[in-house]
Amino acid sequence: MKNDLIDFQAIGDERGYLVSFEAKRNIPFDIKRVYYIYGMNDKPRGFHAHKKLQQFLVCVSGSCKVLLDNGQDKKEYVLNQRNQGLIVKEMIWHEMYEFSEDCVLMVLASDFYDESDYIRQYEVFKSLIERETLEFREYDRATLECSYSWLNDPEIKFLTMTPDFTKESQENWFVSLKKI
Ligand code: TYD
Repeated sequence: MKNDLIDFQAIGDERGYLVSFEAKRNIPFDIKRVYYIYGMNDKPRGFHAHKKLQQFLVCVSGSCKVLLDNGQDKKEYVLNQRNQGLIVKEMIWHEMYEFSEDCVLMVLASDFYDESDYIRQYEVFKSLIERETLEFREYDRATLECSYSWLNDPEIKFLTMTPDFTKESQENWFVSLKKI
């Protein structure tokens, strides 16, 4: 979750400041929707991830905190700069909290509102992330050794209904795999 916070140029003079966002120029996606939340009464919000949607959060008034969680690491951000925004990419669990009374959190989004893009249960989010990070490896000798001890563990042996086997028969099976 590096480089999630982006600083923007605030064009300023004695009349005040101006910050501008442009799709695919200083915002990394096409902006299809803008919404903002306010009057939160310090009640936390969010608690979901999106399957595809990318969002950009700017606290245009007051302050709040945002927790980002990619399923492996969590990071908390404080949003209190008018010329700073936080990217929330797809498949990032996010929670917003500690809103100041005057907090207005503006969100630029890469797509229209679509409830089917939401993942609202943390356990579902975690299992989807784990599925994405599953690594396929070639079956090697180290795995063979490990599987011999796993499959001879009485509980695993019972649950997987593995018949008795020897290291020699396992080796033959391993060699037969290479012929496929
Ligand atoms: P939700 O995204 O759950 O809010 P938060 O993440 O801030 O807790 O949205 C709250 C409600 O508003 C929900 O019923 C969906 C609706 N909604 C829209 O109709 N359009 C939108 O653009 C958004 C973001 C939400």
